[in-house]
Formats: sequence, C-alpha cells, structure tokens
Amino acid sequence: MPMHTQIPVPEAWLNLAALLPSPLPIARFSDGQTVSFDGLAKIYSEECARIELLDGPYGADAWIPIPEEVAREYAKYRPTPVHRARGLEKAIGYAGAIYCKREDVSPTGSHKPNTAIPQAYYARKQGLAELITDTGAGQWGCALGWSCHNLGVRCTVFMTRNSYSAKPYRRYLMQLAGATAIASPSPFTKCGRALFEQDPGHPGSLGIGMSEAMEMVAARPDARLALGCMSYYAALHQTVIGIELAGQLQEHRVEPDLVIGCVGGGTNFTGFISPFAAARFGHGPWRGRIPRMLAVESDRIPVLTQGEYRYEFADAFGLTPQVKMYTLGREFLPEKMHAGGLRYHGKSPLLSYLFHHGVVEAAAVSSQEAFNAGRAFFESEGILAAPESCHAIAQVIREARHFQQAGEAATIAFCLSGTGYLDLQGYADTFQLEGVEDAMSVEAGRS
Ligand SMILES: Cc1ncc(COP(=O)(O)O)c(C=O)c1O
Repeated sequence: MPMHTQIPVPEAWLNLAALLPSPLPIARFSDGQTVSFDGLAKIYSEECARIELLDGPYGADAWIPIPEEVAREYAKYRPTPVHRARGLEKAIGYAGAIYCKREDVSPTGSHKPNTAIPQAYYARKQGLAELITDTGAGQWGCALGWSCHNLGVRCTVFMTRNSYSAKPYRRYLMQLAGATAIASPSPFTKCGRALFEQDPGHPGSLGIGMSEAMEMVAARPDARLALGCMSYYAALHQTVIGIELAGQLQEHRVEPDLVIGCVGGGTNFTGFISPFAAARFGHGPWRGRIPRMLAVESDRIPVLTQGEYRYEFADAFGLTPQVKMYTLGREFLPEKMHAGGLRYHGKSPLLSYLFHHGVVEAAAVSSQEAFNAGRAFFESEGILAAPESCHAIAQVIREARHFQQAGEAATIAFCLSGTGYLDLQGYADTFQLEGVEDAMSVEAGRS
C-alpha cells in the first residue's frame, strides 16, 4: 500500500564524505602516488573527477546543490513512493511493519538514472561527445543510454556477454535509446580480444567490461568513462533515495529499527542509508532513532563477508587507478548468475569505509533464497523485484523471523532497487516454469 506524502524532489545531495570522522581514502596509482585532477579528468568528466578527489565543496560541504537541469530530469519520476508491504507482512505472519522505497518505478526500472542523469549532464556541459561504460544485467547501461539520449551525449556500453545473450531485452532498451551495446569480452579492444580469442563464449564480468571501456576511452579524446556503481560520485548522486525516504518516514512518524539493501558496488544501499549514516556522524536530515544498517550481498560474491580491505584496481586488467575497498581481487571471476548487478569483485570505497568502521553490517544470501523471497513478494504484493533486489527481500524475511522469535514487532525498511520484469528468465529458470504442453508431456510420461 503506497504511503501518501507531500515531500518535494531533493534540491541537494547529501555529501557523506564531508561528514566522516576520518578522510575517505581517495584513488591512487599502483606506485602509491595520489591521482591528480589532470590524470583523473582524462578518465572521467571534470566534475566527476572533482567529486572523486573530494575537491572544493566535495571535501567540505554537507550538501551539494543539484543543478537545475538535473532536478528537472529527476522530476520526471521523483520522489519515488514508499510502500507499506502489508501483504508480505501477512504472508510471513509478521507482527511488525515492513516498508520499501520503490526505485523500481524509475524510467528504466532501477535506481541507476539517479546517477546516469547527472553524469550525462556533466559530460554535455563540458562539451564531451560520448560516455563509455560497462554493465552487468543491463540496468546501468539502460539508464545511461536513456539519460545520454535526453541530454545529447553519445553512449557506448560494454555488456557482460553472459547477460548480453541471456537478457537481450535490456540491450534492446539501450539500442532504442540510441546507445551502442557491445558484448564483453569483445573483439574490439586489446583486453577483450585476449579473452575472446581463447573463448568466444566467455561470460565476461563487470571488471572486464570496465577494462574494455577504459581502453576505448584512452583512444577517444572526446569520450570519458561513466561508472554506475564503484565511484564516490555515483554514491553521492544516489543519496536522493535516502533524503526522500527520511522525509517520507518523518511525515508519517515512522522510525525504522533496521534498514536493508542489496549491494553490488554499493550505491543504492549507501544512498538509501545516507540520512541514517549522517545521523551517526551528528548531522541532519534524520532526527529520529538511528536504525541498524544491513548490506546484503550474494553468497557467490562474498566481498564484505569474506574479502580483504585494501587498495585494488577497479577493473580486471589493472587499467584504472586503485581504490581502497573490500575486494576478492580483480582476477576473481564470478559464476554466471541472474543477479548480474551483484557480480563485481569489490565494493565502493564509501560502503567499504562504512563497513570497516562498523557503521553498517553485512550478510550474504543464496540465489535460491533470493528468488524464493522475490516470488513471495510478487505473490503477496504484486510487485516483481529484480534478482538483485530479491537479495534484500530475502534478508528482510530472515530478520522479520528473528524479530518474531524474539517477540519484537520491529519496523524494517528496504530499498527495492529495481524491477524484475526483464529478468523473468531468472525466475523461470529457478522455478522451472514450463509451458502447459511440456508439463502435460511430463505428466503423461509419469502415468
Ligand atoms: C536492480 C539493481 N540493484 C542493485 C544493483 C547493485 O548495484 P549497487 O550496489 O551499486 O546499487 C544493480 C546493479 O546493476 C541493479 O541493477
């Protein structure tokens, strides 16, 4: 059931980096040298490079004003609703309350436009012709393609071959928006060829796609890299989720005991929890009780629960600067899986910092448990969640059971980071949803 609220679209992003009790480690080269603005501005747009280096206001100000044109684009779908999941509460017999923030209702079906829009805006303002990126299941590629189209910038997307073949619909969306979608590893870059020639069916990974995008950026002076999950700039832009959530909950006098989100790179989660994390460091806008904050990863990519906190390259071939993060190592090649947005070897420096300093907790969930939860959510709420978001729902159900056993009726809020309508193949494979004729022939064979 949607909560009716009057809150406006946020006018500023919440800059957690300026509020942390110790400096957020910034990017460096493999020889330990700090990355300069000139060096980083060859990779990212100038504004993104400034954000990444915590330059000027980004190192000092709690609030960063959202440019007017970005705010106009946000107003096409923001504020996104908060939904009380009474159906799920009833289905699992939970006496407490479960809320979700619906980022699945954005133009391309996930939280990704929240950062794609400003990234395309910065690129156009700087006079760049093109943004190049990597994508897993395609949510980020669609969001960037659509945003670039709206703001007049070309877009090229290296999509992990696993998803390119298994999930063509998001590729079609990118193409509809005029973006070029390339299966990665591809024969078009040196990094890609090294893997493609050995195995043309290589599944790829986000790290490999990022190496290919970096290589293409280096060859095109009017193009830059756009990252949807690993950068601080993406995390900053995603704080619109949490700022709205804080206003919506406060309007209804709801104080969550626990907030939960799934984590690939970590941007939907850190954006979602941003007001609560800021409150931990003594800053607004949240004035209520501070909830526990729980990040949920896939048990096949256990970066927070089993990885190391150290400097590592963001891409697979070591072409990007290094960032300090929890990682399984850039060589880690995750298994093929439906939650493609969680298949990454590291977590963003901001999420890694918050986890390392005990501000957030982490848990890991299996794919089967995630899809079971997604099915229960669909059955009880009529909302189909992306496989990535199903990991958060699974943890919500686990936590609700713990509260129930302890006799507590706690309030849980989670981020519904994306829609699952283009991920139905994942549900079909998991639950072996055969056609009627197939099912009848199985029945006939039994009798
Ligand atoms: C729907 C959805 N949720 C979550 C993620 C994970 O990314 P992040 O942790 O940066 O939010 C992705 C990434 O592609 C996604 O598509």
